[in-house]
Amino acid sequence: MTSVKAAILGFGTVGQGIYNIVHERREHFKQTLGVEIEVAKILVRDASKVREGIDSSLFTESFDDILAIPDLEVVFEGIVGEDPAYGYLDQAIEKGCHVITANKVMFARYGQELQLKAKKKGVQVGYEATTAGGVPVIKTMQNLLRVNEVKQVQGILNGTSNYILTQMRAEELPFDVALKAAQDLGYAEADPHNDVSGEDAFRKLMILCALAFGEQPDWNKVEVVGIDGISSEQVEEAKAQGLRYRHVADAYRDEATGEIIAKVGPQLVGADHPLYAIDDVNNAVTLDTNYIGTLTMVGPGAGMYPTASVMMEDYADMLAKPEKAVSLA
Ligand code: NAP
Ligand code: HSE
Repeated sequence: MTSVKAAILGFGTVGQGIYNIVHERREHFKQTLGVEIEVAKILVRDASKVREGIDSSLFTESFDDILAIPDLEVVFEGIVGEDPAYGYLDQAIEKGCHVITANKVMFARYGQELQLKAKKKGVQVGYEATTAGGVPVIKTMQNLLRVNEVKQVQGILNGTSNYILTQMRAEELPFDVALKAAQDLGYAEADPHNDVSGEDAFRKLMILCALAFGEQPDWNKVEVVGIDGISSEQVEEAKAQGLRYRHVADAYRDEATGEIIAKVGPQLVGADHPLYAIDDVNNAVTLDTNYIGTLTMVGPGAGMYPTASVMMEDYADMLAKPEKAVSLA
């Protein structure tokens, strides 16, 4: 049995999910992957915080302690923001570790660099969890791009926004109460501004653009509107007319100019629209392709286990295909 050493960066919703799955599925991973995964260290901002039931010696506030782990194989990253996350993953790759991230704010900006560096170092980058939570949009797109071209990407990419809009409509909850519930459920960002302002969906859309089209649009040209301007009265009025608010991210390549056109914002949809029925924390991603046609994936877009599960699946892929990068550089 091969024993592999893993480090987890961050021990909030995502980091705890990774830790729990590693321990709950220990026997399963031994049998199916042929490895025993050992969480060797966990990086947090405040190592003195009491974390029930976990050996406190696992926690550190110093990334040097992570780099010092002998034979470190893989780093799971679930911290917040561009910095220092990018620097940490850059150093982990430099050391020869696989990295698996849920951090879309960082990955939208630095994903390309990390993937290029990983390719040079012969390690892999997993980023399924950055976009649409438990919906396997990255792997599906990597697979279909081997044959197809993607013409358009469209969907609901923020679970918190969809959850809030659903609660405002179905339960007639005020915005703030619905947001608090999304925070309690672990769906919202540490600073939920990114969720409700559209910034989170924007970053995810940029990650999808990089994969689908090989490039991102000029960020300054992308119109980004959140759900924070939608009132209870507007939701009620729409409901009375048989309409629902959805927060939609959309990108396509303009055939005439070759430019990527992207925008993010609320839309009112009727019962005949494919996003009408997508409620709660669910995300939906529709890919318009040349050979397959139109493909839609739906599933939980946020939360501890959907997110941690796809990160572990990234690692399982790395073990299964060590010669083939999970990421497309
Ligand atoms: P969270 O609950 O706020 O937890 C963040 C964790 O990261 C905390 O343990 C915190 O340490 C640690 N941390 C933050 N900044 C740090 C730094 N500079 N150095 C060391 N540790 C740091 O966040 P989360 O919901 O788990 O999300 C983590 C990441 O995954 C974010 O990038 C988020 O956008 C992404 N994501 C989240 C979800 C979800 O459903 N929640 C889904 C997909 C992706 P302390 O505990 O000491 O404060
Ligand atoms: N806060 C994010 C959301 C987490 O609600 O979609 C998943 O990326």
